[in-house]
Amino acid sequence: MASLPRGEVAPRDGSIPSVGLPETSFGVYLHIPFCTVRCGYCDFNTYTATELRGVTRESFVDNLISEIELAERILANNGTPRRPAATVFIGGGTPTLLPEGDIARVLDAVRSSFGIADGAEVTIEANPDTVNRESLRALADSGITRVSVGMQSAVPRVLEILDRTHDPESVATAIAWAKEAGLQTSVDLIYGTPGETLDEWRATLSAAIALETDHVSAYSLIVEEGTALERRIRRGELEAIDDDTHADMYELADEVLAGAGFEWYEVSNWARRADTRSRHNLSYWQGADWWGFGPGAHSHLNGVRWWNVKHPAAYAERISAGESPALEREILNADQRADEVVLLGLRVRDGIALDGLSQAGRTAIAGLIADGLVEGPQAISGRLVLTSRGRLLADFVVRTILAD
Ligand SMILES: C[S@@+](CC[C@H](N)C(=O)[O-])C[C@H]1O[C@@H](n2cnc3c(N)ncnc32)[C@H](O)[C@@H]1O
Ligand code: SF4
Repeated sequence: MASLPRGEVAPRDGSIPSVGLPETSFGVYLHIPFCTVRCGYCDFNTYTATELRGVTRESFVDNLISEIELAERILANNGTPRRPAATVFIGGGTPTLLPEGDIARVLDAVRSSFGIADGAEVTIEANPDTVNRESLRALADSGITRVSVGMQSAVPRVLEILDRTHDPESVATAIAWAKEAGLQTSVDLIYGTPGETLDEWRATLSAAIALETDHVSAYSLIVEEGTALERRIRRGELEAIDDDTHADMYELADEVLAGAGFEWYEVSNWARRADTRSRHNLSYWQGADWWGFGPGAHSHLNGVRWWNVKHPAAYAERISAGESPALEREILNADQRADEVVLLGLRVRDGIALDGLSQAGRTAIAGLIADGLVEGPQAISGRLVLTSRGRLLADFVVRTILAD
C-alpha cells in the first residue's frame, strides 16, 4: 500500500504555525477507510473487515467527529478566523458503506465546527452497488449535493480484471436514482486495464456519455507496487498496456468526450459546464486550504502541509488519547510554494501565469511550444497552457519548467 511522505514530526496537540499567507477558500476532506473487498489495482488507504484490527465503523465515525471538534479548538487557539467550508468531499475507501445517518452526523459536525457555506459543493464517492434510491435521497437530505460513482468500465470482462464487485447495469440505476434525488453526478473511469482494447474503451466512453452525467473523470490505470494487479503482471498472468496505447486511449477519451459536449478542465477531468467542474478538486490544484480528516488524510493550511497516521487503529489510539492524529508535516518555503504553483496549476485548463516562473522556466517555453506541448497563442498573452499532447506529457513539461 502507498506509504506516506516524510516530513518533520507533527506536534501531538495539532498546533499549526502561522505563516501569514493571504487567505484562500477553505475545503474539508473526510476519508472513510472501508471497502468490502480490495480491488486488485488499488493502493488507497482503505481496509477490508479483516484488516481493521478491531476498529468498528461506529467507533470510527465517533473518532472522525472528535477530530473535527479538535480542529475547531486548534484554529480557535491559533486565533485563525473561522472560514465556512466552500467544498466538502467525502472520499475513500467506500464512504457509502456507512449508514446515511452517520454521514449526516459527520456533516453536522463540519457545520457546527466550521460552517458549510451557502451553495457549497458537497461530494460523496459511491460504489454503484452500495447505494439505492432511498439512501441517495437520504444523502441529499443531509446536505450532499454531488455523487461521484466509481464506474471504471462498461465492459464486464474489464470489470472482472479490475476485481470490481458491480455490474455495468448498476451504474445506470445508481446515476438515475442520484438524479432523481436532485444530486449532481459524475463517473470515474479507468483506461489501460491489461487486455483492454481501444474498442472496449470506446464502448465504456459511449456508455458513460449515455448516462448524461454532469462530469466525467478518466484515469490511466497505474500499476501500483505491492498490489495484486502488479503481482499478476509480474507472474505473466496479465500483460500491462504499453505507453503508446495509454496515449491513444487518452486522446480517444478527449475526442469522444469533447464531441459529446464535455470540456476538459484538468488533465483527467471533463465537465458538462463550467459550473459542473469539481470545485473541491480544483481547489487542490489552485493551492487553496483544506483540512483532511480521517486516517492518512492530508491537509494544507496557510503554507503548512501535514498528514495523519495511516491505520484506522493508530488513528483511534491518537483520538482516544485526546491527541491530534497528525503524524508529520512540512512547512513550505517560498521556493517550494512557487514549484507547487507549476506542479498543480499546469494541470488545469487555465494554466499558470508566465510572470511567476523562474528565468530558466521562461527560457524553456519556446522549446515546449516548438514540441507542441504548450499553446503558443496563450504563451504570447502571458499564460502557460498545455496542448492535448502536453496533457499526455504533463509531468515532463513540469520537470522542464522547474529544471534549473
Ligand atoms: C480510491 S477510489 C474511491 C471510490 C470508490 N471506492 C470506487 O472505487 O469507486 C477513487 C478512484 O480512484 C481511481 N483509482 C484507484 N486506483 C487507481 C489506479 N491504480 N489507477 C488509476 N485509477 C485508480 C478509481 O477510478 C476510483 O474510482
Ligand atoms: S472500491 Fe475503490 S477504494 Fe475500495 S479498493 Fe476498490 S478502488 Fe480502492
